[in-house]
Amino acid sequence: MSDEAVYPVTDHFRNKALIDKETYESMYQRSIQDPESFWAEQAKRLDWMKPFSRVKDVSFASDDVHIRWFDDGTLNAAANCIDRHLEERSGQPAIIWEPDEESEDNRVITYAELHEEVSRLANGLKSLGVKKGDIVTLYMPMVPEAAYAMLACARIGAIHSVVFGGFSPEALAGRIDDGGSKVVITADEARRGGKRVPLKANVDEAVSLCKESSVDNVVVLKATGGNVDFNGNRDIWYRDLVGKQSDQCEPEEMGAEDTLFVLYTSGSTGKPKGVVHTTGGYLLHTSITHEYVFDYRPGEVYWCSADVGWITGHSYVVYGPLANGGTTMMFEGVPTYPDVGRLGRIIDKYKIATFYTAPTAIRSLMAEGDAPVANADLSSLKLLGTVGEPINPEAWRWFHQKFGKGQCPIVDTWWQTETGGILISPLPGAIDLKPGSATKPFFGVQPALMDPEGNEMEGATSGGLVLKDSWPGQMRTILGNHQRFVETYFSTYEGCYFTGDGAKRDEDGYYWITGRVDDVLNVSGHRMGTAEVESALVSHDAVAEAAVVGCPHEIKGQGIYVYVTLTHGQSPSDELAKELKQHVRKEIGPIATPDVIQWADGLPKTRSGKIMRRILRKIAADEFDSLGDTSTLADPNVVDDLIEGHRVAA
Ligand code: WT7
Repeated sequence: MSDEAVYPVTDHFRNKALIDKETYESMYQRSIQDPESFWAEQAKRLDWMKPFSRVKDVSFASDDVHIRWFDDGTLNAAANCIDRHLEERSGQPAIIWEPDEESEDNRVITYAELHEEVSRLANGLKSLGVKKGDIVTLYMPMVPEAAYAMLACARIGAIHSVVFGGFSPEALAGRIDDGGSKVVITADEARRGGKRVPLKANVDEAVSLCKESSVDNVVVLKATGGNVDFNGNRDIWYRDLVGKQSDQCEPEEMGAEDTLFVLYTSGSTGKPKGVVHTTGGYLLHTSITHEYVFDYRPGEVYWCSADVGWITGHSYVVYGPLANGGTTMMFEGVPTYPDVGRLGRIIDKYKIATFYTAPTAIRSLMAEGDAPVANADLSSLKLLGTVGEPINPEAWRWFHQKFGKGQCPIVDTWWQTETGGILISPLPGAIDLKPGSATKPFFGVQPALMDPEGNEMEGATSGGLVLKDSWPGQMRTILGNHQRFVETYFSTYEGCYFTGDGAKRDEDGYYWITGRVDDVLNVSGHRMGTAEVESALVSHDAVAEAAVVGCPHEIKGQGIYVYVTLTHGQSPSDELAKELKQHVRKEIGPIATPDVIQWADGLPKTRSGKIMRRILRKIAADEFDSLGDTSTLADPNVVDDLIEGHRVAA
């Protein structure tokens, strides 16, 4: 990989981009030098019910972390995403939905229809007793009703907690319990790539597993018509609930700092954390980044392929594009069903202007050569985007050539569940591209690189990636545990938000994210805590101890590599390996399925009993020559055994 390959701003964007080079420079400078006036001005892009008088009230000091933006202003997120567009674009498509099965009818939902659907469901939720500040759990397929449900919550001031439909009943139960939801919205089944996921059955099981919550109502959308058990005292069909409601529902006046949603994400230790995002700052951040990073113009059809169960789906399928009066595409299926040409056909069918996806999807298509684009026109595309993990330059070039025909810039957008929206990314009219680099900070974003002693480093170098000041979309706390929030993000480098990522900065000031420096894995762009997978494994009777690390994986970026020490009397077998994989799927979900299980009689521990993961990572990656110092191990001999075991397992 070379830093030399530069793809300059294309003619198309040089002449007509919303933000050109000079504008980027001057706006960026102003956003850093005078954030208050910069953000006060940008906040005009939202409709406020009551204007704010304070812009920013932030402290990153570890003894007093607080983050507040526009905190005496009031607004409603759903009104900003729907109502205010009605005058000009009531007949314009807000959401276009493409079903899993290509032969089925698609759905086009105009802003007027979105207003009606969301208002009816909002009234329906009220009729179930949902009030401002209550948490409603959503466990939905990729269908428009998932967006309706998010916006209906926002409309009445309820907090949505979306749980990805691929998570297990156990994982769902933990999330319902943590937030104390009384209402769950789900569907009979989800469909993906011709397969079905029994969402309602999973909810039934989750509800029975809940320890803290008592779920009063489960709202069930008939999505596939599949069979479900129906508990008449608790369950209610979605269409029965909304059918009898009025299509008018006054949006609730919300404080800018009132919580809009909670979304769970994995950390290096402990259970998944409920990331709290609030109303004003989050909506401003997703709206402004969606417009400028994607150079979005109303009328264009924009497609982000993420599931609404992840932050990317929240920010760039739902809130960002709808806040901007855009047309957002929702695809129920997967890139390879019924065949690898599907994405190309969707792009042509809807004349997609911008396609935003994940490197793992690109790599899985790249493995098919020209087939994914062979019969596609793709001339509607003007811009491509990636998110979720570093993109290897080879995949970048393939995407650029095959989908972009060498004409469309690729915005490689770095951000996190915690950041709410994009923080480091090219703007297509302002920043020359380097494949594999997320390039430059967005307005108001102040990245810095730290050495291990906690000193900021200047110039071309690499280190721990921190952010020195707040941005409006930043998470505010961890649900129910502010202390954990402080410890996780503000205790490594005093006065800074620590991202958990390492990065390199080159001579041109471009950032190259090198990946997590903590015990968090990135599997197909999804975050997975090693501790979570380990605790799932040790909950199986046969497992005495488990250590989980990432290993290189051609398609997923990182695979899940597991070292297992069995309990006395158990012996390794292929059946047991299969059973353990199945066990993890059941505990967490299919995305956590281990790729490799290596049997290990012992793990490399220091004399104080701490597992040296560095060594396990090196062995999993076949890098036996660079194991580093092993002399502090309690028993250095385990290393040879592990290397031997790796040759057998891999
Ligand atoms: C982690 C955040 C942001 C939505 C999807 C993932 C990695 C994300 C990039 C990128 C290099 C990236 C980081 C980050 N990451 N985007 N463009 N280049 N790395 O959200 O699950 O919260 O994961 O994903 O390691 O910390 P998430």
